[in-house]
Amino acid sequence: MKFSLLSIFVVLLFSGAVQAQDLKNVQVLPFKNAREIVPYMKEMAKDLGVKCNYCHNMKDKSLDEIKHKIITRDMMKMVKGINENFMTPLKMDAITCWTCHRGSTSPPYNINEKP
Ligand code: HEC
Ligand code: HEC
Repeated sequence: MKFSLLSIFVVLLFSGAVQAQDLKNVQVLPFKNAREIVPYMKEMAKDLGVKCNYCHNMKDKSLDEIKHKIITRDMMKMVKGINENFMTPLKMDAITCWTCHRGSTSPPYNINEKP
């Protein structure tokens, strides 16, 4: 009995510690852990028509090794800036990566054309 209570305590402590330092290198997005960031990442990957490894070293996603990941941080800042400075004051819907990219890494010049 004593042992099982102790092991529950250790498990709780450990999972808490793991969650607290879950994300290591998130500079722009407001997310605190994988449970919050992964759904956003899935949506963003779909908006660009790519898989996670387009931007990530799949052994450690916190590394900044791939140039697409670096560019993406600036794109995230751009989207945030457009929404905060223009779309919200205009009371219009927020833009997303999809607004321009439409499922491609290179947005179509004519928005009515398929990429
Ligand atoms: C187009 C590029 C891109 C794609 C595709 C992408 N990511 Fe990311 N990901 C990023 C960027 C940029 C960051 C850092 C964001 C920041 O600094 O705010 C990040 C951060 C993360 C982190 C946090 C890592 C850490 O500890 O610092 C996780 C986890 C993650 N992505 C998971 C995924 C998964 C899972 C997928 C596929 C479903 C995916 N990403 C697809 C660009 C991408
Ligand atoms: C206002 C339009 C617009 C929005 C919104 C936008 N992008 Fe872009 N993005 C572009 C344009 C234009 C390019 C340049 C494409 C080219 O040169 O072919 C680009 C290029 C990129 C590239 C570089 C592709 C490469 O070859 O390395 C990445 C990665 C990218 N965007 C990610 C994103 C992500 C992620 C978002 C959402 C957070 C986003 N973009 C939102 C217009 C946009």
